[in-house]
Amino acid sequence: MTGAASGIGLGLARRFAAEGMRVVLADVEEPALEAAASRLAETGARVLAHPADVSSAAQVDALRDATLSAFGAVHVVCSNAGVGGPHGPLWECTPGEWDWVLGVNLGGVINGVRAFMPVLLEQDAGHLVNTASIFGVFAGALGPYGVSKHAVVALTETLHFNLESADVSHVGVSVLCPGAVRTNFGTSARNRPAWAGPPLAPSPEEQAAAERFDRLSAQGASPDEVADIVVSGIRRRRFYILTSQNRNEAVIRRGTEIVSGGPPAAPFP
Ligand SMILES: NC(=O)c1ccc[n+]([C@@H]2O[C@H](COP(=O)([O-])OP(=O)(O)OC[C@H]3O[C@@H](n4cnc5c(N)ncnc54)[C@H](O)[C@@H]3O)[C@@H](O)[C@H]2O)c1
Repeated sequence: MTGAASGIGLGLARRFAAEGMRVVLADVEEPALEAAASRLAETGARVLAHPADVSSAAQVDALRDATLSAFGAVHVVCSNAGVGGPHGPLWECTPGEWDWVLGVNLGGVINGVRAFMPVLLEQDAGHLVNTASIFGVFAGALGPYGVSKHAVVALTETLHFNLESADVSHVGVSVLCPGAVRTNFGTSARNRPAWAGPPLAPSPEEQAAAERFDRLSAQGASPDEVADIVVSGIRRRRFYILTSQNRNEAVIRRGTEIVSGGPPAAPFP
């Protein structure tokens, strides 16, 4: 479980532990990771806390190795770590910001596939859940974030077809596309690396959009509710796992917009 120290990842870790699973929590934010792992261990869960930056292929390989050496096998892999980043016009995003957001949100998922998929294939058992977003399914803007989440959906769809032609029958993949969830996502910049450079001051419009986004998130689902949906989705082998119905119209509208020549409707009408 990556991004396990907070929000959706922590909710999933709690739920998996309650199911009797042994859980590996990985995160870049070490104090929060240690605190989350201790709280979970106090409930009697068997947990391993492993600091890792998912944008590093070597660190995700080390996470796999630590998991296998602690528990001998791995059955559910959740590539969930993610960051928000800048929401202004794409031409204003710096190379450092693109590298940060794509490196974590897309690179982390790629590293998860490369490191863990061969293990699941070798076992012919297991399930990979990649966290995208509902903003990865319809035209949601949100700067490099939306770009990264569309890529995670496309990557996981490709993986589905790859698995269909592989000689395995008990390995599955899902792409989790949450709507609003009450987490610490609004403060993603806490993990912004120094090399990404300082953020530009947001324009009044961007500030207003960010505040509207925060208000929507505050009304969202709880991480525990999302965890219930994910566990049920894995059991039922759902490929797309959505967490709310209120964006269904926008998802369907996207297909209509594409075949009619567009343009995409604004994400927040
Ligand atoms: N909260 C929402 O409304 C929402 C909606 C759609 C999708 N998502 C996605 O859900 C996932 C989890 O986000 P959340 O809402 O729980 O936010 P969160 O900030 O509460 O949790 C994200 C976790 O990822 C960790 N993380 C950040 N950079 C990392 C890195 N380089 N390596 C390892 N860990 C790193 C953070 O330390 C944090 O613990 C993200 O991929 C996010 O894009 C969230």
